[in-house]
Amino acid sequence: MKKSVILSKEEISKQYKFMSDVKSITGGNKKVYIQTFGCQQNEADSERLLGMAEQMGYEKTADPKQADLILVNTCAVREHAELKALSITGGFKHCKEANPELIIGVCGCMVSQEHRINDIKKRYPYINFLLGTTLIHRLPETLYETLTQKKRIFRIDSDACVIAEDLPVKREPGKADAWVSVMYGCNNFCSYCIVPYVRGRERSREPEAVLSEIKALIKDGVKVITLLGQNVNSYSPAGRENYGFADLLSDICRLDGEAVISFMTSHPKDATERLIDVIAENPPKKNKVGIARRFHLPLQSGSDRILKAMNRHYDIERYLYLVDYMKKKIPDIAITSDIIVGFPTETEEEFLETLEILKRVRFDNVYSFIYSRRNGTPAAEMDGQIPEDIKGERLRRLLDVQTAIGKEKYLDSVGKTVRALVEDVSKTDGARLTARTETNRLIHFEGDASLIGDYAYFYVEKAEAHELFGRFIKKD
Ligand code: SAH
Ligand code: SF4
Ligand code: F3S
Repeated sequence: MKKSVILSKEEISKQYKFMSDVKSITGGNKKVYIQTFGCQQNEADSERLLGMAEQMGYEKTADPKQADLILVNTCAVREHAELKALSITGGFKHCKEANPELIIGVCGCMVSQEHRINDIKKRYPYINFLLGTTLIHRLPETLYETLTQKKRIFRIDSDACVIAEDLPVKREPGKADAWVSVMYGCNNFCSYCIVPYVRGRERSREPEAVLSEIKALIKDGVKVITLLGQNVNSYSPAGRENYGFADLLSDICRLDGEAVISFMTSHPKDATERLIDVIAENPPKKNKVGIARRFHLPLQSGSDRILKAMNRHYDIERYLYLVDYMKKKIPDIAITSDIIVGFPTETEEEFLETLEILKRVRFDNVYSFIYSRRNGTPAAEMDGQIPEDIKGERLRRLLDVQTAIGKEKYLDSVGKTVRALVEDVSKTDGARLTARTETNRLIHFEGDASLIGDYAYFYVEKAEAHELFGRFIKKD
């Protein structure tokens, strides 16, 4: 197994040198269009890609036809995500025909797979470069070579266990929330999942680097910070034997200022009572850094046999113990989960066990997915693949059960007073504003736009399946 390496200052300055070289070649005043698929990690990667592009003289545009550089940051977690990325990329052929100088680069998880690389090499000759997800810090070098050597570049190394600090980041100005990666990669090799193959081995950033990034964000007025990692619970910075994710969270809560911290994703096999205790001890408060009252704990299946076949390393008893412990310590916690239906060999009875767990736990929200066969993963080779129609039918039944539970849970808030951060003008009703509660629920209310960015208290008057309606009481 390769050891993770924090890139040296020289390596990073090399990329900064390429940034200024690219800017001198193009003369600046260029435009970049980026399309991002997949999870928050990819969104965070796109902010870095844009940050580097900006330093090279490329300003962000929302119109691909205006762009001098198009970046597609892809996801490979399910077939649907790959097909969408391929079809969008196919569409950019017209932009290239209209502007032969246009540079198109495809980055991210999809292009870190051998069969996709070969496919793109052959079928998409107008793509200038591929940049694997572990190497995005080398965008400047890749763009420089594309411009000077006029050849196609395929830069992929899924085993590159590097951490690149001090790269420029382009965050949307004025946004109240931000992502901060605390670790990269995954070592779990769940039998259905492609992520460990495309994002490399786990590597954790130094706590000092994370803390100073968060400090700067809070100083900039960011109010909601989500810590990212495929399995944040196995955060373990090199050379710091007894320092884990719970320690990091507790150090973050000692910073000055006001912010709400949340994190994703947690793996149940590594979630500890200590972590839950730290959350319980640090509720969000005025003038404090606290932790959101929500916990995303992917279950995947309610059957012990299927969990074993998925290589998840916990059983239902352990999962329910964690849920009960959380509910006991943090009574207002909103627990959410991920479920896969139709994993190979899943029987009707095993699927019903999953529905039983949903009824027992009463999740606030469940992200449910139809099992998608991923090239190179053990589950793709298993006998007993479930036919598409059965998978689709199981998904629909699961959604029916969860929608009813979610609605009941939202109705529970009616008549209560909640604290929430005012985010924006409502997307569905321009006359209202929306705020987000500490349990991640949206609440619509009538109020003045000057409240945006403030915490306030609301009285909940009405609930729908995924939203609340309320009355503004007072600012916090
Ligand atoms: N690291 C996170 C999840 C990353 S992927 C974790 O372990 O919780 C997000 C979700 O996609 C997973 O939780 C899983 O439910 C789903 N997923 C992953 N691979 C999948 C596949 N091959 N088919 C369907 N869903 C999948
Ligand atoms: Fe995939 Fe499992 Fe790793 Fe999550 S923990 S990214 S599901 S292999
Ligand atoms: Fe997709 Fe890669 Fe995230 S496969 S879900 S973008 S880690």
